[in-house]
Amino acid sequence: MNHISDILSDGFTGKEISVRGWVYRIRSSGGITFIILRDSSGIIQCTAAKKAFDEDRFREISSLGIESSLEVSGTLKKDTRAMTGYEIEVSSFRVYQKNDVFPITKDKGEEFLLDNRHLWLRSREFTSVLKIRSSIFRAFSDYFYENGYYQVQPPFMVSTAVEGGSTLFKVDFFGEPVFLNQSAQFYLETMIYGLEKVFTIAPSFRAEKSRTWRHLTEYWHGEAEVAWIDNNEMMDIEEKMIYYIISRVTDENREDFDILGRDVDTLKKMKPPYYRIRYSDIIKKAVSLGMDLKYGDDLGADEERKITMEYDKPIFVTNYPRSLKPFYMPSDPDNPDEVLNHDLLAPEGYGEIIGGSQRIWDYNEMMQKIREGNLNESDYYWYIDLRKYGSVPHSGFGLGLDRLAMWIMKRDNIREAIPYPRTVRRIRP
Ligand code: 4AD
Repeated sequence: MNHISDILSDGFTGKEISVRGWVYRIRSSGGITFIILRDSSGIIQCTAAKKAFDEDRFREISSLGIESSLEVSGTLKKDTRAMTGYEIEVSSFRVYQKNDVFPITKDKGEEFLLDNRHLWLRSREFTSVLKIRSSIFRAFSDYFYENGYYQVQPPFMVSTAVEGGSTLFKVDFFGEPVFLNQSAQFYLETMIYGLEKVFTIAPSFRAEKSRTWRHLTEYWHGEAEVAWIDNNEMMDIEEKMIYYIISRVTDENREDFDILGRDVDTLKKMKPPYYRIRYSDIIKKAVSLGMDLKYGDDLGADEERKITMEYDKPIFVTNYPRSLKPFYMPSDPDNPDEVLNHDLLAPEGYGEIIGGSQRIWDYNEMMQKIREGNLNESDYYWYIDLRKYGSVPHSGFGLGLDRLAMWIMKRDNIREAIPYPRTVRRIRP
């Protein structure tokens, strides 16, 4: 048995080969049935001539509907008229499952395709999306493995908020209310004392009512935490990591980018260093672009879209006002109302893909922020303990892998970058 992409070469012409897959297109003309067969690797034209089969068998192969599954054997021929340059002259076949009408046709709307995501995923376009996604996830891990990090696994059911209480999903844990984790950060912080450099890929959950093109309620979060480094050194690592992922996927998935119509040369130009701009300067820039924003306002999807259209590479926005960021971020010693943090905004209108910062490591400063935030000290006892026993400066970040994938593939909506999007309105299939 061969994979289609392996046999599309002159080395196989004239040889007997077998492939199996699904009917992508089918038509009959002049005593020949043309089937474009699809497998996970590609497509190839197969021709079944009436004269090569008895009547029943020819009818069987000619009446297959789109997405029927079958195996064909025959001789490979070079044929420049065929979609991928070669065709198989079918001498025998086995039908695994015949269907008549596949529910997904060209004219279907977005809601229909979402309801039928389980069938839409096999489309050539979505197959390319999934292949690129797979490469992004692997490249993310490889970057950290190659740089001496350990992969660790946080719990998903937790008793503490990381990014504020308003977006927590509550679940019933034997009668006790617990939450689905918003971020692995605090657990990663506990692990740097043994391992120094750690990373994880895990789902994060946000009960966000935001119905924007970039919000999910369950998303894939790539996070890292590193001992002994500051906010600037963290950004150095992140820009290298982003460029490493871009280089790997544009090399490995060239064909998939072609299928999606994404121009990879634009991506390949995203070489570090990336811009580093203070929040206060970004607000000035936004005002100069005609936006109605003032110091202290948060940047939403629309604002970031307009701002990032102005840049040719990703932009780190640093030094946010404390009021906009969570309690664990330390104040900038030169400007105590601002924190030592960074958001990384992707260009081409995509906006925030990373949130990261230095972490407060001084016990007294941490206690003060916990009290100011009206947080329950006893819930955070373990997080506070880290500041009592061998505390060290450290920094970390979280990368929204679905957002990164959306930007890399230049999709219009985050739903088109993840197989089963969970949004405010969708939990099926
Ligand atoms: O900026 P956030 O909330 O930061 C954290 O969770 C930190 N604790 C991470 C850390 O330092 N370890 O989220 C990080 C990233 C965002 O930049 C965004 O890319 C993604 O997670 N993200 C979402 N992606 C999709 N849907 C949502 N609702 C998202 N919320 C955050």
